[in-house]
Amino acid sequence: MTIGILGAGAMARALAKRLVAGGFTVAMSNRRGPTSLTDVVTALGPAVRAATVEQAAAHPIVIVAIPWSQLPSVLGGIRDWHDRIVIDTTNPIEPPHFTVADLEGRTSSEVVSGLVPAARLVKAFNTLTPSVIARDPREGGGHRVIFYCGNDNEAKADVDAVLTACGFAGVDLGDLAAGGRLMQFPGGSLPALNLIKL
Ligand SMILES: NC(=O)c1ccc[n+]([C@@H]2O[C@H](COP(=O)([O-])OP(=O)(O)OC[C@H]3O[C@@H](n4cnc5c(N)ncnc54)[C@H](OP(=O)(O)O)[C@@H]3O)[C@@H](O)[C@H]2O)c1
Repeated sequence: MTIGILGAGAMARALAKRLVAGGFTVAMSNRRGPTSLTDVVTALGPAVRAATVEQAAAHPIVIVAIPWSQLPSVLGGIRDWHDRIVIDTTNPIEPPHFTVADLEGRTSSEVVSGLVPAARLVKAFNTLTPSVIARDPREGGGHRVIFYCGNDNEAKADVDAVLTACGFAGVDLGDLAAGGRLMQFPGGSLPALNLIKL
């Protein structure tokens, strides 16, 4: 199965590495276009190919790994999100000053969900740094925990299967409102918690 990734930075590369190790192929995209990704995809190996944002977003599972400020224009530029599973890795902060976005009382993934109408959104991976995610998730005889949440149980089951194939241990935290609050960065209690499930 090919998984599309919007973004080709630190988070996207870490995820591509783990997805390839889990047996998936990856279509990776960025702002500057596929020709700028030659070195990146070469380094990740033959299971990763460069794509446009539109091509990456056409896959059944699409990972979003771009800066918060870019989400409305990039996600809004995709004509049809129908039935796609969108994995949201983003945090509502913007480098270089890490300004926190005003979410008007919602969780960040509830906001992102509104940008991908008819898609089924699952929040995952945002609580760990790319350097931790890139590491082999099989550690100390167990599996690195990846928290996730979402409002669609089937989509969460599909994401959990991807996590398992990659060697992670998925932990379902419920819906985007309750689970999203625990995973929220900044403010939630789970960011930076690097757990191994035995
Ligand atoms: N880094 C972390 O520690 C961390 C931890 C948890 C969650 N996250 C979240 O992960 C997301 C990505 O962070 P990152 O650290 O990977 O950022 P990054 O290294 O700066 O990479 C950002 C990527 O997004 C692409 N991009 C930017 N604007 C775009 C646009 N308009 N259209 C298409 N692609 C665009 C960039 O394209 P170019 O390559 O063309 O510049 C780049 O590949 C963020 O939302 C962040 O909050 C990051």
